[in-house]
Amino acid sequence: MPVKACVFDAYGTLFDVAAAAREAAGEPGREALAERWQALANDWRLKQLQYTWLRAVAVAHADFWDVTQDGLDWALEAQGLAGDADLRARLLALYWELSAYPEVPEMLAALKSAGFETAILSNGSPEMLRGAVSSAGLGDLLDDVLSVEDVGIFKPHRRVYDLVGKRFGITAGEVLFVSSNGWDAAAAAGYGFHTVWVNRAGDPVDRLPWRPDAEMSDLTGIPDLASRL
Ligand code: LAC
Repeated sequence: MPVKACVFDAYGTLFDVAAAAREAAGEPGREALAERWQALANDWRLKQLQYTWLRAVAVAHADFWDVTQDGLDWALEAQGLAGDADLRARLLALYWELSAYPEVPEMLAALKSAGFETAILSNGSPEMLRGAVSSAGLGDLLDDVLSVEDVGIFKPHRRVYDLVGKRFGITAGEVLFVSSNGWDAAAAAGYGFHTVWVNRAGDPVDRLPWRPDAEMSDLTGIPDLASRL
């Protein structure tokens, strides 16, 4: 069955989650961060994701903004930067305006002109996603932005993937789902979506019961793949 909608994970897939720490590290007076911004960004992301999974399993949902702050607080402490309230505030402000990867606007425009529906399906809260989409100027290239807040549980719960079929009135086999998170792409493949894992870092594939259908190093090949399915 041909693909009708191309649906993207947001953080790490369309938006560069390391951009907040990288940009803050380049600002005057941030020498301590400049030495360890990559470790901070990695810890922040890892803890943020771990907290989503733990909250899902424990049935203790909080929105992604709370989880993002909790992950940052852990990471700042781990990197010896916990006392810097100004840095914390700056990093959180930058998270609302993360830059999109450079190929994103052209890739989405190609999908739209080929007649595909386009959407985000993200753990992000609606407010965070509105901020990121608008600061990256992607609003006109997306038909919808779907947030887990509509079902009150994080990925990879199936109720999250159900949001796509409900919104567009299509079957799982008519969806191409794209994520840079190996576990998200794998779980979405298990759900029945066509899936692409965008593996920019060349990481090993996640050992889960499902595998993504395809792997790419960036998003440029998505329109071509979508039209061939
Ligand atoms: C998201 C996270 C998983 O955007 O990156 O859903």
